Amino acid sequence: MTERRILLIISGGIAAYKSLELIRLLRRDGLAVRAVMTDNAQQFVTPLSLGVLTEDHVYGDMFDLKEEREIGHIQLSRQADLVVVCPATANILGKMANGIADDLATTLLLATDKPVLVCPAMNVRMWDHPATRRNIAQLERDGIHVMQPDEGEMACGEWGPGRLPDPAAIAAEIGRLLAEVPEQADAAHLLTDTTRTILAPDLSRANLFGRHVLVTAGPTHEPIDPVRYIANRSSGRQGFAIARAAAQAGARVTLVAGPVDLPTPRGVTRVDVETARQMLAAVETALPADVAIMVAAVADWRAASEAGQKIKKDGSGAPAPLPLAENPDILATLAISDQRPPLLIGFAAETENVIAHAQAKLARKGCDMIVANDVSGLPGESVMGGVHNRVHLVTADGVESWDDLPKDMVANRLVERIASRLQ
Ligand code: CTP
Repeated sequence: MTERRILLIISGGIAAYKSLELIRLLRRDGLAVRAVMTDNAQQFVTPLSLGVLTEDHVYGDMFDLKEEREIGHIQLSRQADLVVVCPATANILGKMANGIADDLATTLLLATDKPVLVCPAMNVRMWDHPATRRNIAQLERDGIHVMQPDEGEMACGEWGPGRLPDPAAIAAEIGRLLAEVPEQADAAHLLTDTTRTILAPDLSRANLFGRHVLVTAGPTHEPIDPVRYIANRSSGRQGFAIARAAAQAGARVTLVAGPVDLPTPRGVTRVDVETARQMLAAVETALPADVAIMVAAVADWRAASEAGQKIKKDGSGAPAPLPLAENPDILATLAISDQRPPLLIGFAAETENVIAHAQAKLARKGCDMIVANDVSGLPGESVMGGVHNRVHLVTADGVESWDDLPKDMVANRLVERIASRLQ
């Protein structure tokens, strides 16, 4: 397995000294840590001690030509699997919440496409101040993970919430979030630069500024009774990756997500739903859109009526009957709606005759493109729930088959294709 990488941003608070212990714990857990310090952080810890612990160059100066030539601040922000701000002062939280980028640390935070965890640490009055409350709420809306500070005696002698949690607790939270980060980052990391350019085209060429992109993702859950539901193995990863790529290309993105355990990509508006009917309603509310990409594995059927109480065995040994009703087809409904998006893309999850079934679906559902994939295979090995995908683009003009790629790269290529079609 590839080494996972943390970009650790240290801002200037008294708790900055705890970042040293945090680095030690992360390194012990086998993680690579690259440190970035704000100017103020350098009043509390030295680049030398961070450099020794990370065994890496410590970054700080936005205009350091050597650093810029060797790595570039955009790349620096993207090479990590997770960005951690620890400690996060009220000042850096305020800048993040307002999109201010006036030094290397805040520029990286604005430029990154990776999940971000902030670990606030400050005086209790600062933590409780309405401005901080507003900033934290905004950051959470933006999909930033906020670790709640501990309560206790502060360096200033006051008592209350605002203390940086124990480094071991922060390391555990980092481990938990890393487990959620799609592993395609690893696969991308293994590629040579040339292969990377071919497989993952530079999204800066895909311009979706001013466009509204609507994406559905994940499974739906169709309740049978208060404790049971009909579901499928969709993880939501491919849809989330497409939403992330579209947002990176400048689009306003609405992501209608079934029940999945994935962080919201940055800059994406997420609407969580459970059932197919809720998904259809959320999609209709989000219209109009320039492009709709229906990636969700919508349950075709639901229980005809949801039992109010848990269905019990009746003692006869015969299974309880489960009458089903067909769910609305969201993609087909969109295709004939007055507000049909100019570009309508469906996915086709098939276990046999992938292309023939996809071609039939293209016609039946009235969309412009079907992205077909083979979802056969055992749980854990299948595309469904996995991190790779081998897709075929089926349009009225023909079929184009792509190699087996990490889902992130499939998303980048698809968004590039969409951007050029809209132009
Ligand atoms: N889809 C949808 N609403 C449904 C079922 C599917 O919007 N009720 C969309 C999916 O999001 C996908 C496409 O239709 O974009 C194809 O989904 P798939 O599950 O492959 O096909 P089905 O329509 O369910 O057909 P079948 O079960 O016969 O394969």
